[in-house]
Amino acid sequence: MMNRFLRACRKEEVDRPPVWVMRQAGRYLPEYREVRKKAGDFLTMCRTPEIAAEITLQPIRRFGLDAAIVFSDILTPLVPMGVELTFSPAPHIANPVRDPADLDRLRIPDPWRGTEFLSETLDRVGAALAEDTALIGFCGAPWTLASYLVEGVTSRTFTRVKSFAHHHPEDFDRLVNTLADAMAAYLRTQVEHGAQAVQIFDSWVGSLAAEDARRWALQPARRLLDAIADLEVPRIYFANGGAHLLHDLPEMPCEVLGLDWRVDLGRAARALPEHALQGNLDPGVLMGPDEEIRRRTLAMLESAPRSGYIANLGHGITPDVPVHAMEAFVGTVKGYRYELGIRN
Ligand code: CP3
Repeated sequence: MMNRFLRACRKEEVDRPPVWVMRQAGRYLPEYREVRKKAGDFLTMCRTPEIAAEITLQPIRRFGLDAAIVFSDILTPLVPMGVELTFSPAPHIANPVRDPADLDRLRIPDPWRGTEFLSETLDRVGAALAEDTALIGFCGAPWTLASYLVEGVTSRTFTRVKSFAHHHPEDFDRLVNTLADAMAAYLRTQVEHGAQAVQIFDSWVGSLAAEDARRWALQPARRLLDAIADLEVPRIYFANGGAHLLHDLPEMPCEVLGLDWRVDLGRAARALPEHALQGNLDPGVLMGPDEEIRRRTLAMLESAPRSGYIANLGHGITPDVPVHAMEAFVGTVKGYRYELGIRN
């Protein structure tokens, strides 16, 4: 069958839900840890197309997933914008944006340049993938990227970025809009190099009250999504922690909405009848016994809409998940059939 993942994004009929997993290429895989030991630094791995392509393909070979997500990070495109970024493995920005004057330092390459390594990785992966496996490109959403730019690290409280936004709302609007335009150019380049769908990770939209989320997260994410509409590839907006935004999400100009596990899929499907949905098993369930993983995965599939649904976790898989747990999750989805309702 033609690619199940792309069909589900467009709400076309499929024999079973497609399945892929956020952070599917990563430390829970022994073959990833092996490559990482030799290559050393995470950013070097992202910037070496041969290595990044190999890592992208590792989970495809092992689990036969319906989509591959190119190996990189949401923060790598900030480097061409003038950001001093390191990982150990948590990200760190040495020159964070702390007041409005710092915004003048941010450069937007036009046309987009500085991530040629990713273009080459996409070329390589595209050439290696079978037709039934889709290739997903991605970027961070403006609010999530702004939070890293201002905080300099992964924050728990987001006080610095909220302080910036509340004290300098116009400047902050300018920052998130700038990021939206930069990421539109970045995704455009990815699609030119074979990305067949794109996911926008709004990992930290859940930190915002609905009113603030509308202005600082959803508005610039819409700007980004609108700017790439002409590419005609499915656009996925992942609203992590966005349960309080269910009534705002229908307005997002994208084909697919990614949801985390705090949202009931059936309820989400009623609130979002136009969109395909993606998600949303709690990655923590993969820390439990295989039998429980299978039971919870089936329950998720039963509660999901039958048309326009992509099975995934509700957030990235964590490094401590055993490989057999991922097999139990993926195997349950792959054994499911819509026509007959057969489960194994
Ligand atoms: O398999 C894939 O999903 C593709 C690769 C990918 C990575 N990061 C690789 C990575 C993707 C899509 C991301 C996205 C990303 N990066 C997000 C959005 C998704 C989410 O989780 O909400 C965010 C917020 C980041 C920022 C980031 N990068 C953090 C917070 C960390 C460190 C935390 C941790 O997991 O330890 C990273 C590093 C990172 N990105 C690693 C990987 C495989 C670990 C690096 C290593 O091997 O040392």
